[in-house]
Amino acid sequence: MSYTPIFHPKVDKLLHGADYNPDQWLHMPEVIDEDFRLMKLARCSIMSVGIFAWAALEPREGEFHFEWLDRIMDRLAENGLYACLATPTGARPRWLAVDYPETNRVGADRVRLLPGMRHNHNYSSPVMIEKAKSINTKLAERYGGHPALLLWHISNEYGGEDHSVDSQQAFRAWLRERYRDDLDALNRAWWSAFWSRTYQDWSQIESPAPHGETAVHGLVLDWKRFVTHQTIEFMRHEFEPLRRIAPNVPLTTNFMETYAGLDYFRFADVLDVASWDAYPQWHTPYPMRPDPDAGDGQAATLDDYERAAHFSFFHDLVRSVKHGRPFMLMESTPSATNWQPYAALKRPGMHRLSCINAVAHGADTIQYFQWRKSRGAFEKFHGAVVDHAGHENTRVFGDVSDVGTVLERIGEVAGSRVPANVAVVFDWENRWAIDEAKGPRNDGRTAYVETVIDHYRAFWKLGIPTDVIDETRPLDAYTIVVAPMVYMLRPGFAERVEKFVAAGGVFVTTYWSGIVDESDLCFLGGFPGPLRSVLGIRSEEIDAPAPGETRRCRYLDGNPLGLSGSFSALELCDVVHTESATALATYESDFYAGHPAATVNRLGDGFAYYLAARSGNRALSQWYGALVAAHPVRRALDAPLPAGVAAAVRENGEHTFLFVQNFRSTASEVELPHGSGGFELIDGKHVDGSIELAPYGVMVIRLD
Ligand code: GLA
Repeated sequence: MSYTPIFHPKVDKLLHGADYNPDQWLHMPEVIDEDFRLMKLARCSIMSVGIFAWAALEPREGEFHFEWLDRIMDRLAENGLYACLATPTGARPRWLAVDYPETNRVGADRVRLLPGMRHNHNYSSPVMIEKAKSINTKLAERYGGHPALLLWHISNEYGGEDHSVDSQQAFRAWLRERYRDDLDALNRAWWSAFWSRTYQDWSQIESPAPHGETAVHGLVLDWKRFVTHQTIEFMRHEFEPLRRIAPNVPLTTNFMETYAGLDYFRFADVLDVASWDAYPQWHTPYPMRPDPDAGDGQAATLDDYERAAHFSFFHDLVRSVKHGRPFMLMESTPSATNWQPYAALKRPGMHRLSCINAVAHGADTIQYFQWRKSRGAFEKFHGAVVDHAGHENTRVFGDVSDVGTVLERIGEVAGSRVPANVAVVFDWENRWAIDEAKGPRNDGRTAYVETVIDHYRAFWKLGIPTDVIDETRPLDAYTIVVAPMVYMLRPGFAERVEKFVAAGGVFVTTYWSGIVDESDLCFLGGFPGPLRSVLGIRSEEIDAPAPGETRRCRYLDGNPLGLSGSFSALELCDVVHTESATALATYESDFYAGHPAATVNRLGDGFAYYLAARSGNRALSQWYGALVAAHPVRRALDAPLPAGVAAAVRENGEHTFLFVQNFRSTASEVELPHGSGGFELIDGKHVDGSIELAPYGVMVIRLD
């Protein structure tokens, strides 16, 4: 098989490894010797080093100690392991935070942090930028050509924001550029005449503060955009010496799910590889959000199957940030974390399943936090490959080396793609705008992220490969595009939707869409604003029933999706009128009985659907089941999946790899459709017909 190096030219296999902090153990060299013995046993191939090692590398300003890292890098190379070498800015050495207090962040309350903790440096501080560049230059000079070096790990989990004087100035400069030095344009965009909030001078602009301005939504939104910009700018400073000195070494930084503070799509052009840190809380049932269908075949609690849907969404999101290229699972726990409310241990089988689920959605590496448990301080009880006991005779070590073996067996999956012709739109700017707006629900139940995941989950349960894109991405590669709650229409999105539908695409959106433009200014002339013509509806009012209240809706006889029966609506019920659209369902209760609850509009060769109210997950599953029956899309498996079983697919132009995953603690059986057997790579045997999945079992089948 010919392998196209998508992830990295040096690598044609799936990688396995962990965050490795030998800097904590330099006084115990026998521990480090043991680490290298154990890495082999655990079948590791990549270790992330140096993430928080600044104090060991530069214990005093300008005094550098690289000998220990030289030795580690050499040993990695000698043992056939790759290094994912970090820039150490995730945590500053004490001298930097103490001697240069301006590198400590200032909070929204304008209080400057004291030295301590991590991930809290001021991105605008010239000293911080200079010190980061200095250490990174040394790292690049020393290790840029090292045989162990595979890629750079830039800092760690960028996040948070700084409100210092430096950042205020940078914010104002960014605004001047955005509004082309036109303060009137800014005032209009921010609708600052409201409450007399008009700015007379750029110098009056201050970032949002709990004891200052939060009511000017345009300001809040631009501040959030600026924070993403400023973080990326800092990152550019960080990697400038790396790119200059070692231009062929790729770089990544690790994301955190749908972390609210950064628009990860903006990182697409600066990163070579996307990576993220996944910490699913398996076996910990939390209540799901209110669902009128719960108890009706729908989970009321977030069980392992439902949680797998969430984490599959996050994997798909990270993969989509880099336009479908395989990503790195940079961190995950080999057992449990020490920061979630309950540290439930992974049941036998779950570690393998959880790791292979990431691969199924496009991961080409499985890495852990952490290799070895630290002896003291904050994370001494966080799960690790090597426990305080220090040997390999543990269940967790066994699970980890099992995954190492499995990744070797399924190694030919490396570099393959997920063939998605469905996209779900998840857009950070839209999310910020929805979360910031006052009304129509102020109890947090507009729940944008959960809503997007609800729609995604319906496809996931059907085994339909799905991309997760934002409003700026092209739509034409997809058959179906679902954009729940596109409250904010970013420039060009409505036009692209219209073209997509006219050319034969299927578009689905919901209530609370087409309300504001990119400045958070409401569209005049009726909602859903620029989506009105493609959807063929006009929205007049939106009702927000109280918690526990529902409205009955019923599908109309003979509707083109063939749906029948009734369903409950809750939380947000849009009262719409059809213009060119046809109603598929109507409300049956309250004064808006008879108004459409779901519509379809034909435009050109395509279809634009509108769901006027939030429904439960069973109703959503029925809806999407009917939708994909009417508009067929690629599925991992053309067969019904038993509850608890998920199917995913990757392909490389030559082979198709089917991933069948059982998220239940009981065995399950899946009937492969006639003629779709293949070679199961983990156990190395041919399968077809009915396949039996063990509790938390997983199969990776290279289809015939
Ligand atoms: C994050 C960090 C790691 C570690 C883990 C613990 O992902 O990047 O350094 O703290 O959390 O789960």
